[in-house]
Amino acid sequence: MQSKMKQAGHARIEVEGKSVELPLMEGTDGPKVIDVRKLYAQAGVFTLDPGYTSTGSCESQITFIDGDEGRLLHRGYPIDQLAENSGFLEVAYLLLRGELPSQSQFTAFEQSITRHTMLHEQIDRFFEGFRRDSHPMALLTSAVAALSAFYPDAMDIEDPEQRNLATLRMIAKMPTLAARVYKYSIGQPFVYPDNSLSYAENFLRMCFSVPAERYAPNPVLTRAMDRIFILHADHEQNASTSTVRLAGSSGAHPYAAIAAGVASLWGPSHGGANEAALNMLREIGTPDRVGEYVKKAQDPDDSFRLMGFGHRVYKNYDPRAKVMQQTAKEVLDELGVNDPVLEVAQKLEKIALEDDYFVERKLYPNVDFYSGVILNAIGFPTEMFTVLFALARTVGWLAQLNEMIEDPSQRIGRPRQIYTGPDQRDFIPVRDRG
Ligand code: CMC
Repeated sequence: MQSKMKQAGHARIEVEGKSVELPLMEGTDGPKVIDVRKLYAQAGVFTLDPGYTSTGSCESQITFIDGDEGRLLHRGYPIDQLAENSGFLEVAYLLLRGELPSQSQFTAFEQSITRHTMLHEQIDRFFEGFRRDSHPMALLTSAVAALSAFYPDAMDIEDPEQRNLATLRMIAKMPTLAARVYKYSIGQPFVYPDNSLSYAENFLRMCFSVPAERYAPNPVLTRAMDRIFILHADHEQNASTSTVRLAGSSGAHPYAAIAAGVASLWGPSHGGANEAALNMLREIGTPDRVGEYVKKAQDPDDSFRLMGFGHRVYKNYDPRAKVMQQTAKEVLDELGVNDPVLEVAQKLEKIALEDDYFVERKLYPNVDFYSGVILNAIGFPTEMFTVLFALARTVGWLAQLNEMIEDPSQRIGRPRQIYTGPDQRDFIPVRDRG
């Protein structure tokens, strides 16, 4: 990656009477940044930023978020335009290669993905070692890491050809792995991929078909699945993406770096929020109980939070949530489902958006608020939701990992700390300790 940052001036800070000048950099969009790389060398001090609320960890040309305006762009294209007009593999190409593909580029890309959808047969045996009631994310994290044992040829991450092959393989194999995770949990036979189907169609078939019955794909559900994949494909330097970059920065095997991302995504503050959001909507149960839960979320003595609400970066409506809400309606209409959960979600959103607590803190629905309603209607159990998120985000993780490896300024990620433990002291033998 060639750097496109430009110097836009200087920032001056004073450290214990010594004035230090640091470069002020600007990108294409977004706030300027103070480049502190030389701060320690110049002034002998570090910056402290737990949670990275004021820290950029890298230069990236993939995704831009304007949290105040609620804008999300992939390589410059707004997410709503991509969700409306393109397909997941087209977005994957865009994220990985930087431009939308021509028809022939797309056909070649799609073919190169589909020919890698099968898994090594040994992987199927690997599943048998797990309890059937394991959380699907436990299985997925382990299975993705296990793939590194099957592809030792991906170890040379400096080789662009090996990197490209590892990228195509991982995008192709994630739906097969995710579907196996699901089938294993319900005790049904694994379904092999059918490469004549589209990415989303193939995935739904591997999840919901059984050898004893004919399977007919539903185009509305296929489109909804594909859209959910698009909406989750990448999201800048979030926790799991930063984890992938950090794990990969040591030169780790790419499959292992992606497995680290899957692990990070699992938590309820991140990818696990879609599961938590639907569980919460179910617990609320009926629209008349919404007020009670809104009050609970505001109570400083109660740790309860409205799941699917709030975001570190968005201080406005998450643009993905808008598309998700629309898709939820389309899917429920298609299936003729009258799920009270959608009514609860809509009432909760309305009340929260008018409530001072949420308005003051700029808490809006995020991508996870409506996704659970859709996935539930399609037929996925809640524990599978984060698995589907991981499947889609794999594309973003890979784009970001490759970008990092191609960045000449990349070094191993190694944050520092402020030490507040004991001062140096001398060891006392156990017999002499009081
Ligand atoms: N419900 C009630 N209050 C909230 C919520 C919520 N969902 N989110 C934040 N707040 C309050 C929080 O209590 C704090 O209030 P106060 O200033 O009085 O102490 C204030 O808003 C700021 O919250 P914060 O925890 O400092 O914000 P953060 O940027 O560290 O956290 C978040 C962001 C997404 C972890 C948080 O909003 C949250 O826990 N939301 C629920 C979980 C969720 O939906 N996560 C999915 C995020 S989007 C998909 C993804 O990233 O994977």
